[in-house]
This record gives sequence, C-alpha cells and structure tokens, in this order.
Amino acid sequence: MDAGDVAAEGKAFYVTTPIYYVNDAPHIGHAYTTTAGDVLTRWHRQCGESVWFLTGVDEHGTKVQRAAQAGGVTPQEWVDRLVGESWLPVLETIDAANDDFIRTTSTRHVQAVQRFWEVVRDNGYVYAAPYEGPYCVGCEEFKLSGDLVPGEGDYAGEQVCPVHGRPVEQVAEDNWFFRLSAFGDRLIAHYEADPDAIQPASAYNEVMSFLRQGLVDISMSRSSVAWGIPLPWDDRQVVYVWFDALLNYATAVGYGAPAGSQQAERFASTWPADVHLVGKDILRFHAVYWPAMLMAAGLDLPRKVFAHGWLLVGGEKMSKSKLTGIAPSQIIDHFGSDAFRYYFMRAIAFGQDGSFSWEDMSARYTSELANGLGNLASRATAMVGRYREGSLPAPEALLPAEHSLVELLGRVAPQADARMRALDFAGGIAEIRGLVEAVNVYVTETEPWALAKDPAQASRLDTVLYTVCECLRAIAVLYHPVMPKAMRTLWSELGAEATLGPIADQRIDDVARWGQLPAGAGVTKGDALFPRLEDPA
Ligand code: ME8
Ligand code: MG
Repeated sequence: MDAGDVAAEGKAFYVTTPIYYVNDAPHIGHAYTTTAGDVLTRWHRQCGESVWFLTGVDEHGTKVQRAAQAGGVTPQEWVDRLVGESWLPVLETIDAANDDFIRTTSTRHVQAVQRFWEVVRDNGYVYAAPYEGPYCVGCEEFKLSGDLVPGEGDYAGEQVCPVHGRPVEQVAEDNWFFRLSAFGDRLIAHYEADPDAIQPASAYNEVMSFLRQGLVDISMSRSSVAWGIPLPWDDRQVVYVWFDALLNYATAVGYGAPAGSQQAERFASTWPADVHLVGKDILRFHAVYWPAMLMAAGLDLPRKVFAHGWLLVGGEKMSKSKLTGIAPSQIIDHFGSDAFRYYFMRAIAFGQDGSFSWEDMSARYTSELANGLGNLASRATAMVGRYREGSLPAPEALLPAEHSLVELLGRVAPQADARMRALDFAGGIAEIRGLVEAVNVYVTETEPWALAKDPAQASRLDTVLYTVCECLRAIAVLYHPVMPKAMRTLWSELGAEATLGPIADQRIDDVARWGQLPAGAGVTKGDALFPRLEDPA
C-alpha cells in the first residue's frame, strides 16, 4: 500500500504495545500485551477498517547498559543479539501480525527524537537544573517521595520500589528539565472531558488523583548515562530513556519526516494513536508524561490508554529483573500459539491481574478447545464426508431448532463485536463460546447419526448438516482474530476457502448473514484442530 492509498482511506485505527526493554529475553507478560494488541487489530481489520499495529523494543538506558556490561559486550552488540535471537522470533511464536517493529537505536527514531526535543525546547518547556533524588533502574524512573514503600526480608527497614521490591539508587547530576508542571490543569481538564481516555476506571482514578496532587518538573536528560540519544544542544547528555522511548509511538509512524514524504503522509493518516496498550506498571508515563510531551510539542493526544493487569508468579508481578519469567515457547511448544492466545485472553479479565497455571490451562484446553470446538468441527466434517460424500448438502425447510441458532448468531455477532471493541476480550470470547455450545447441543438433540439410518429423513439430515457447517463458518470468522491458525484450517476444511475466499477477508459485520456457505462446497475432515495432549511429566 503506498502513502496515497493510506491517505485516501482516512485515518487508520492505530494500536500500540509498549516497547519492551531488551535487558533480557521476553516472557509471557510481554507476549500477553502483544497478543491483546494482535487480537484487537485483527478484529478491527476484519471489520473492514484500515489498521496499524506497532510493537518494538526499548534499547537505551541504564538497565540495558548494565545488562550488556554484565554480558561482556557493548550495548549495541547486546541489543542486536537479543532482538535478533529473542524479540523478533517471539512475534512468530505467538503469531502476531504487527505492521511495524520499532527499535529505538534506529536512525529514523533517533533523528525524530532529537527534532522533537528541539521543538519542545524552542517552545520554552526545557531548562537546565541539577537533580538530586531517588532513581529506580528497574523502572528507569525518578521516584517521588510518595512512590516508595517499606521493604521486606533482606530489605527490611529500607524504602524500596513497589514494583521491583528493591532499594532505589540516589542520583545527583546536572540535567535538563521538562516543565511538566505547566500541564497539570490542562491534563485534568482533558481527562474530565473524556473519562474513557484512560481505562479501566481504576486506572483513570489513579491518574486523576496523581494529577490533583500537583505535578513537578522532571529531568528529560541524563548526564550520568552514556547509552542513549545525545541531546542536540548538549552532547554531554543523553535523552532520559522514557522521554526517548515514549516517542516511538510517533516516530515509528513518521513524526518529524520531511513534509511531502511517504512517512509524513503516514503520520497524517495514523496519528493520534487510538489505543496505547500498557501494563499498569507504566500507566503514569503513558497517561501523564506522554500527553504532556505531546501538548508541549503541539501534537494531538492519544485517544485511549488501557492499563491491563499483571501476570503474577507467587502473588508478584512476573519480571525479567526478578528472573521469574516463563518463556512463551515453554507453553506454546506444548499447546500451540492458538491455545496460548485463547487462554490468556479468555481466562484473565483484561484490566485485572491473573496467575498462569499449567493445570488451569490444560483443563480449559481440553474442555473448551479439544472437546468443545475441536470435537464439533471434526464431527461435522466427518458426517458430511460419511453421509454426503464430502459435498455440503443444500438445506430444506428450517425448523424452530435451526431458527433459534440463526437468531442466536444474529445476537452473538454484534455482542462479541461490542465486547472486543471495548477490549473486553474475555467477554467477546464468552459470546462466541456460547454459540459453539449451542451448536454442540443442537447436534446432540438432532442426532444426525440417527437421521442417517432412515432414508425418509434424508432432507432433514441435509438441513442439520448444513446448519452445523454454516454455524461453523460463522464461528471460524469470529474466532479468527483469536486463533488465526486453527480457524484458517477449519475454514478450508469447510470448503469455505475455495468458495468464499480467504478467511482474513471475511467481514465480522456481515458474519451473521445466514446462508453464505454454498451447497456443494467440498467438506473434508483433517487432523484434530486441537489434538488431545498428554499432561507433561
Ligand atoms: O516498561 N504481566 O518495558 P518492560 C503483564 N521499556 N504484563 C507484563 C508483565 C507481567 N508480569 N511484565 C511485563 C518498559 N509486561 C518500557 C516501556 S513504552 C514507551 C516503554 C508487559 O520490558 C506490560 O505491557 O519493563 C508492561 O507494561 C510491559 O511489558 C513492560 O515491559
Ligand atoms: Mg518493567
């Protein structure tokens, strides 16, 4: 697609994930956010919208610099290796269809960050001053007095970071400051006028109470850190890592590109972001500092920041720093990427914390995917094979049992759409799962295997087989954003690929229209969509 097409289509629905620190390899917490973004953007794409989905990595700062040092290589070597060996491959592992991947060491980002801060400085929001105070390297954050909590165990008697559970470092250095205090009232007014701009409500309330306490100016540069983007007007200092990283959302879509260039067109048709997906650990950066930066540069504010909960290990946030991470491949090698995506979107309400447990995942996999959807698909395709030589029969008159499925589909599709658009992934999946269950009940009650024994019931059997396959057509389309691989397989087993075209082109706003799968479609039974799995030893 060239820039002209982008502009002609109007603004893209633009979704971002945080850019993750490459101090170490990804764990399922990072995969969780990226999966949510991928499900959301695939859903919107299937509603016919133009979509842009960005993810990437945050490569600068003390945390990465120290990890490289401990690894005995330069920071650039460290990040190149981890990005190549871990962060890019994990996108394949979880089956993410991102449109772009931003690295903060890339020239496009570095140049645009420097341009941005020149603009903000020209606008009068940057000044030189010394900083002295606590800094958490785990968070890469200047902590305020109210941010710290009493330590436990080894750190009893000390004040520690509530996220990392460790004491913070004291820093004293000459910095350039960002005049954050100038934006408190405007931010409060903005969020009062648009409460949906921060979700869930708990996140909104947290930000509002922080804003109402009053904002103080904050360092936008570091003089004691070497690994970063040099300030254009003072090359003894680098841009503070957060004030480099947050800009990725704008630089990746062409902020600062020369007027008239393709990248500049991209910016015009993409900015502002529609949804910044973040974990609740980094809410303040996204809902306070980031919009203040944008105001200072005269740019539009993002439409929504959604702060989801944490995946917990032993009641604490799973974390690279604490080495409690589970690699996505540990789960996906066993269950597959579709089950991984399904499980995390279905089992944890988006916005709340949740614990991963192998037992819970195994149980849901078996009951909902293998026995539920998978069994329904294999029964349906096998029966069309056995009773109708693999050719989908045309339905005869629909009876009340069929009408009630048609009506259910008519309700499920818009309700699932509303839930998914509201980022209630578990709610959206529950709607679709309800349809799967209803079709399973329908098969049990209509007993097609009994109808097949009675030649007088041939046309009734045609109707039942058609109804089940047509429901599966709709289920495949609705579940495709969540489980792209398995639904693509189901789609071709239904003969839909050959008759209706690629599943990714099927529209969710048209999915409830009954009768799309044509009679005569070639139905084939393949391997189980969700094979039964042995419990790992
Ligand atoms: O904060 N549960 O990077 P980061 C759920 N570079 N989500 C989790 C998680 C968990 N246990 N652990 C991590 C940074 N995440 C900055 C961001 S953005 C301009 C810069 C996810 O590597 C979640 O999205 O610490 C969280 O906010 C993010 O990874 C933090 O990743
Ligand atoms: Mg972190």
